[in-house]
Amino acid sequence: MEKTVRPETMERITTKALADAFIEEQIKEIRAQVGDKKVLLALSGGVDSSVVAALLIKAIGKQLTCVHVNHGLMRKGESEQVIEVFGKELDANLIYVDATDRFLDLLAGVSEPEKKRKIIGGEFIKVFDEEASKLEGIRFLAQGTIYPDILESDGVKAHHNVGGLPEDMQFELVEPVKLLFKDEVRVVGEALGLPHDMVYRQPFPGPGLGVRCLGAITRDRLHALREADAILRDEFDKNGLAGKVWQYFIAVPEFKSVGVKDGKRYEGWTAIIRAVNTTDAMTATIEEIPYPLLHTICDRITHEVGDINRVFMDITPKPIGTIEFE
Ligand code: XMP
Repeated sequence: MEKTVRPETMERITTKALADAFIEEQIKEIRAQVGDKKVLLALSGGVDSSVVAALLIKAIGKQLTCVHVNHGLMRKGESEQVIEVFGKELDANLIYVDATDRFLDLLAGVSEPEKKRKIIGGEFIKVFDEEASKLEGIRFLAQGTIYPDILESDGVKAHHNVGGLPEDMQFELVEPVKLLFKDEVRVVGEALGLPHDMVYRQPFPGPGLGVRCLGAITRDRLHALREADAILRDEFDKNGLAGKVWQYFIAVPEFKSVGVKDGKRYEGWTAIIRAVNTTDAMTATIEEIPYPLLHTICDRITHEVGDINRVFMDITPKPIGTIEFE
């Protein structure tokens, strides 16, 4: 198959005016391609699928059906935001599937990272397929493919994304942002009126918190990780670091250590803070976090997340460490 190539004459979308022009042009193209037929989209809530959803809602409204699969490994508040923004504010046809139990039951006892990824990716396809087969008259599948996906892989959405879809689906593709770079997708997202934090969200791996709840995932440790991660993000937001640090998150390993609470010794989990800067994710440097902020984060995590009694900071660049732990 011939690779799609971005024309050299295509202007980089850096302003609202350029984004508005792009949106108008895409609305016409989408309408011409789709006509009065129905379109399906797997909406993860990430930047690319959210922008595609917003564009399609503008172009064809209820001819679009979005399916949001909550695999139980989302960050705190993410699925809720998808429901709020797309289901309520934009009044989209949104099917929300809470498949948490299916994923966590399958993952129980599985500690090998690639096996975990395979289970999550495979189950995602199954759930999406099941939902798609309940719908009638779908002719098109929309995807948030962006230009780096085409440059870096074989033209499908990033090869290790959980967003990979069933190969035997007989749909024609609608890929309105496939010639855009990430920064352009963000400018378009803002011009479409999507929330700033959705559009400027840091990268989040398809398998979600699954690769940060290290080893075999348990519900209690996953819950502790999600809460601790929400505190880290909240503090980064409040202290102006959210826009400066490329990726920051908490990982929780399997081991427990002893702490003391109310005069009693008890065992708790450890939250590891990772905050890195990079341009292409191939190498990464460690972001210096002011000590007073680290103290606040440690204090909040250990007090607000009952099961965590220690906070570590990972100071390993990439290489030698990868950005994620698994
Ligand atoms: P590493 O850990 O390889 O990560 O240094 C580089 C970038 O890729 C993201 N990442 C993933 N993204 N599915 C994804 O969609 C995955 O399985 C996956 N593993 C890593 C990671 O968050 C970082 O931005």
